[in-house]
Amino acid sequence: PQPSVHAEQGRVIASLPTGDSVEILLYGATVTSWKSNGRQNLWLSSAAKLDGSKAVRGGIPVVFPVFGPPPKGHATSALPQHGFARTSHWEYLGSSSSESGALAKGGDDSIKLDFGLSAAQISDEARKAWGYDFALVYTVTLGKDRLQTMLNVQNKGDKTFDFQMLLHTYFQVKDISKTTVNGLGSQPYVDKVLNATTHTQTTPSLSITGEVDRVYAQIRQDTTSIVEDGKPSIDVVRDNLDDTVVWNPWIEKANGLGDFEPKDGYKNMICIEVGAVDGWQKLEPGETFEGGQIVKSNL
Ligand code: BG6
Repeated sequence: PQPSVHAEQGRVIASLPTGDSVEILLYGATVTSWKSNGRQNLWLSSAAKLDGSKAVRGGIPVVFPVFGPPPKGHATSALPQHGFARTSHWEYLGSSSSESGALAKGGDDSIKLDFGLSAAQISDEARKAWGYDFALVYTVTLGKDRLQTMLNVQNKGDKTFDFQMLLHTYFQVKDISKTTVNGLGSQPYVDKVLNATTHTQTTPSLSITGEVDRVYAQIRQDTTSIVEDGKPSIDVVRDNLDDTVVWNPWIEKANGLGDFEPKDGYKNMICIEVGAVDGWQKLEPGETFEGGQIVKSNL
């Protein structure tokens, strides 16, 4: 069997002979499913809107050009939370497969899918709020037990712009009470639950026992791991990105999110979000920036 790719009704589905598969919604270029070894690795709310009426609650929404609520008096200040990339209709640019790509392990195949979004393709509203000329290419590569997602940002205009970017990955976990996050030990972080104060994580692993919304910046280690029942289940490896957000809404926040279902779904998810969100990336006319992640499943 060969790797296969189907583009249909606003989505692209790719699979490998190994059974690994990925599904991307053109709305937001949101990865909504990634399966390996018969297991769904991503969490997707059962009430997620997949019709383009709202950013997808789950999967991998792409955050650009601002993370969180935009600061006042900044070039992004008229944009909605997390920017416009996750609520824009992207273009599918095509696929290529290889037997020796960077993600191929022991001769296994990989499939690379490219998606594009440029200034001309965003809504009038978004263009009015952020009037820069840019082009994004988002590359999703599926390999055996791994998924790579890379965002390439290009300044096509004659004005320098500032941006932030983040890949807001919702991972599925079996039981949050038996889940820890490793690789962030001794790292300072901004705690958005505690009024954005700065703290340093003293333990090597982070247990999730309540609402967590932490921004770790300038992380020394490249890999953040999700450990379930004492075994690393997922490794998230940053590529040219220094920051990682860890988010779990827990009971009250999940209750307040209309598109978060089931309501106790917080027990089965954890967001590990790689990005460049500490300060701003400056992009001069003609320049490009590329950053992303490789996610590996050990299950
Ligand atoms: C996280 C932020 O990245 O995204 C949280 O750190 C935020 O503060 C969460 O609540 C979800 O955001 P949204 O806009 O998808 O509800």
